[in-house]
Amino acid sequence: MSHPETKQLFAEYVAPTYGRYDLVLERGEGVRVWDERGKCYLDFGAGIAVSALGHGHPAIVEALSRQGRRLIHTSNLYFTRPQGELAKRLVEIVGTPGKVFFANSGAEANEALIKLAKKYGNDEKRKSATARFEIITFEQSFHGRTMAGISATGQEKVKLGFAPLLPGFRHLPFNDLGAVERGISEETVAILVEPIQGEGGINPATPEFLTGLRRLCDQHGLLLMFDEIQCGLGRTGNWCGWKTVAPEVVPDAVSWAKAIGGGFPLGAAWFRAKSFTRQDGSEWQLCDVLQPGNHATTYGGTPLACSVSLAVLDTVLSNGLVEKSASLGAFLVNELAAIPGISAVRGKGLLIGMELDSQFDNLSDGKRLPSQVVVNKLMENGLLTVPAGPRVIRLLPPLIVEEEHVQQALEIIQLTLRSLLSSIG
Ligand SMILES: Cc1ncc(COP(=O)(O)O)c(C=O)c1O
Repeated sequence: MSHPETKQLFAEYVAPTYGRYDLVLERGEGVRVWDERGKCYLDFGAGIAVSALGHGHPAIVEALSRQGRRLIHTSNLYFTRPQGELAKRLVEIVGTPGKVFFANSGAEANEALIKLAKKYGNDEKRKSATARFEIITFEQSFHGRTMAGISATGQEKVKLGFAPLLPGFRHLPFNDLGAVERGISEETVAILVEPIQGEGGINPATPEFLTGLRRLCDQHGLLLMFDEIQCGLGRTGNWCGWKTVAPEVVPDAVSWAKAIGGGFPLGAAWFRAKSFTRQDGSEWQLCDVLQPGNHATTYGGTPLACSVSLAVLDTVLSNGLVEKSASLGAFLVNELAAIPGISAVRGKGLLIGMELDSQFDNLSDGKRLPSQVVVNKLMENGLLTVPAGPRVIRLLPPLIVEEEHVQQALEIIQLTLRSLLSSIG
């Protein structure tokens, strides 16, 4: 099937919920993907921070085929070994006792955190007559596209047309501890934060902000919940994104998705083993708040998904990819900072945002943001990247990326920006 025919299928049959680039991808291997005309691209988007092991990795293919032959799905009416093993591995990654709930996507993993917070507010011994239910989130945050996800997200554009939203979220300025201190009310029960904002433009929290949030949560009995969907599981140069910012902070709940399955859909939420007193005076654990009947999803933690995830995490570990993310990421950030046209470079490890300087605003054609125009040009020149806001371009290569790929990407970025700048000026 040709490129125009594929596009025609989408025009006729696929709901137009995505602004797609003019590219039909056909296959991938390692850090590279090919379109249906045979043109090769370096994939520095990795399916938006998903394909940690790149494309066609033998460890993923082997796990899919081994577990596929053995048992793909059972439902959560029964126990399966891979789900138990993966839960143990995730608890070890956090490094604090707790338990894990499995879902299928990032939005669903966050839904589990949101329900945990509401149920905790409902169950805990109350200081006032009403239950606490409000969750503080931050401006420019992104927490998914379900109704709870867009209600939690601190960006107006995702909410337009979907009123009434879910009540009980308060958005405060990111990295502003004073605003949080003033914003906590009698109804507040939790704080949900991306330790490094992804969609909002790669904005890392400051160490003072994360440690301050932990202190405020302890003072007020609030849950501190980290959305690690984009920044978690190795990309930042640490298994836990927040530990690249404030290693000593222990959260009460964490959500993951994206890299956890290396491309196979999976989400997960960790709840801390932390005691609290319930309304009837009994002692209970936060990780046991969601009981049978409180939360579920048919596909959550299938043997297939969990086996693939274990293979991904094993491979990241045995190949030293977390350490490699830190070192290659630092190299990439340094080199990017020297390229004319880039005004700032932010991020940790291989979660990198490069900000275009204001000259690039002249590229906007009214329909597309400057970042989208540049991402399109980079694509034409053989490099896939992802925009984040008007002027930020994300570089999120697979964690298996090598220095030669990074050098090649830098060359494409340099040449592309140079030619765009000369067309503007
Ligand atoms: C920080 C963060 N939270 C939640 C989500 C939603 O994840 P999903 O698209 O898998 O529902 C995303 C997706 O980009 C994300 O980056």
